[in-house]
Amino acid sequence: GKVRKPTSIISTICDDRGEELTYNGVPISNICQEQYNVGDVIGLLWFKRQLPAYASKFIEMCLKLTADHGPCVSGAHNTIVAARAGKDLVSSLVSGLLTIGPRFGGAIDDSARVFKEAYDRKLSPEEFVEGMKAKGKRIPGIGHLIKSADDIDKRVVILKNYSKEHFSSSQYLDYALEVEKYTLQKANNLILNVDGCIGVLFLDLLHSCGLFKKEEIEEIVNVGYLNGFFIVGRSIGLIGHALDQKRMRQPLYRHPWEDVLYDV
Ligand code: ACO
Ligand code: LMR
Repeated sequence: GKVRKPTSIISTICDDRGEELTYNGVPISNICQEQYNVGDVIGLLWFKRQLPAYASKFIEMCLKLTADHGPCVSGAHNTIVAARAGKDLVSSLVSGLLTIGPRFGGAIDDSARVFKEAYDRKLSPEEFVEGMKAKGKRIPGIGHLIKSADDIDKRVVILKNYSKEHFSSSQYLDYALEVEKYTLQKANNLILNVDGCIGVLFLDLLHSCGLFKKEEIEEIVNVGYLNGFFIVGRSIGLIGHALDQKRMRQPLYRHPWEDVLYDV
């Protein structure tokens, strides 16, 4: 029989060859006419599923709530400095995006991984926290530089409240809140932060929506889909910061000498 030459690339999420582009089989005209939102499009292109409305709305909330957190955070700071150095929009944006990682905004996947493992292994909060400490590791999803038990992060409250209203299970959130109770005994700023909250809530969502098999959930967590929410969300704010600097024609930034300890 005929032997097809192996292709260099395999792609499974969309098709641009026909008359109309499709996202995971759904034509773009349906996407516009049937009022698919950005959460639905992420459902099709990342999760290869038509997600239920409450799940797509949750994704959109993650994007909206992570869109910006002021000019002082790592990402916005880098973007502002790059824009003021005269760099173009994409360079200013990626300069900020490149700060997203284990300490800032990019702790979502790792928090889903470690909380899932600890919960599935039935570790008590104390065993989990002290076990991480013994390994010399910080718990991803715990801790914040300015938010604390006395100055709660409204983003986390909004996400938790939404999940209570719409998700049918809350096992991972409940476990993370027990862990938070334990870490708060150590220091006031060791809260379940916005990264950690998105991480555990997404585990609850994946388990409770009934669309994903156990192995698929493992794969989502192992491949690391979830930092994507912060990356897409924060891009909105970073672009805003770059445009803001350009609009104001801000000059080249130089950090003040007096704010550096020259300990030569
Ligand atoms: N797990 C366990 N202990 C912690 C954690 C944590 N996640 N964070 C802080 N501590 C403890 C440690 O004992 C630390 O002492 P060490 O430096 O000897 O390890 C002590 O608190 C003091 O820490 P701080 O220096 O006050 O922590 P800081 O406030 O500078 O850090 C940060 C804040 C970077 C968010 C930190 O808590 C952390 O690394 N968290 C994990 C990563 C994370 O979740 N990042 C996302 C934050 S939310 C966002 O970016 C949108
Ligand atoms: C953010 O969303 O950028 C933050 O939670 C980090 C911060 O320090 O405010």
